Amino acid sequence: MKVFGKAGKAAAVAAIAALALTGCGRSETTTGGATEGGGFEQNASIGVALPQKTSENWVLAEKLFNDGLNGAGFKADVQFANGGVSEQQNQVSAMVTKGAKVIIVGAIDGTQLGTQLKQAKDAGATVIAYDRLLLNTENVDYYVAYDNFKVGELQGQALLEGLQEKKGSGPYNIELFAGSPDDANAKVFFDGAMSVLQPKIDDGTLKVVSGQTNFEQAVTQGWKAENAQRRADTLLTGSYTSEPLHGVLSPNDTLARAVLTSVKAAGKELPIVTGQDSEVESVKSIMANEQYSTINKDTRKLVEHALTMVKDLQAGKELEINDPNSYNNGVKTVPAYLLEPVIVTAENVKTAYTDDPVLGPITK
Ligand code: BGC
Repeated sequence: MKVFGKAGKAAAVAAIAALALTGCGRSETTTGGATEGGGFEQNASIGVALPQKTSENWVLAEKLFNDGLNGAGFKADVQFANGGVSEQQNQVSAMVTKGAKVIIVGAIDGTQLGTQLKQAKDAGATVIAYDRLLLNTENVDYYVAYDNFKVGELQGQALLEGLQEKKGSGPYNIELFAGSPDDANAKVFFDGAMSVLQPKIDDGTLKVVSGQTNFEQAVTQGWKAENAQRRADTLLTGSYTSEPLHGVLSPNDTLARAVLTSVKAAGKELPIVTGQDSEVESVKSIMANEQYSTINKDTRKLVEHALTMVKDLQAGKELEINDPNSYNNGVKTVPAYLLEPVIVTAENVKTAYTDDPVLGPITK
């Protein structure tokens, strides 16, 4: 297996991000190699390999996959890999051994499953990358996700709008946070946001006082709140003893709340902070005018589409794909079905979740 070095991986993800920009939204159907003309038995085992429980969306996905697969008559084999990459590798291998016909993977590290995905394809399974793309492997058939580059763009736009709305006329002092560098999505979110923010840094509207503008400087290992909080503490004491901090790009809600905790502890005025995932505590924080924004990526819709893919594969039907060309994983273009993320701020929080069983009642 050829594995990207750090630079290679970054380049591959950058290529994905750049290509994502040209996505044309065309709808097409296609068949997966292993099942062409085929289908499989209705009570087949279906594997779902989930990463660590780094945000609420993954926990909800576990339940939805179990309910949806078992409810449709399949044998659901849904696993979390809280122990890390080697645990996830073992879980995917075990799914192959148990004869899974489809293996759905939300990878901890999209570059580290090459051997196991080859085993899966050799055994005739179809491999679907879920939420995070599987990189540098031939052995992935489909990708289903929210448009990650768009998520980043929406975060960048929200940060700018929030600053203009609430922090006077600028220039504005900001800091940049990114997700975990092993997650293929993290760089794509960051690049999407920087496509909006970089021109404003260049023209002086935004000032990153710490000077830490690279992805590598902004990352948060393991998407862990404590890592983001520690970096925020360091930034505040290093660069903001006499300057106000007006805004923070945060890639998700868990990290947004960690940044807000740090700012509160420092006794500073709260900055505009972005987020993602519509986590309960963050939606409440938006309603209390603390966190500025989140992204609604309804997990129910994403799992529902993954389940539709499984059912179509079982029936030997062609799969619906709406983005056949944008997602090159380094060695192949993976046919994708992308869903549209939606930005949520205090302005639309009361209407954004009306059909959500948990957030609907909270935001009424
Ligand atoms: C998901 C985000 C999530 C993050 C941490 C990403 O790959 O797309 O929704 O916040 O993982 O769990």
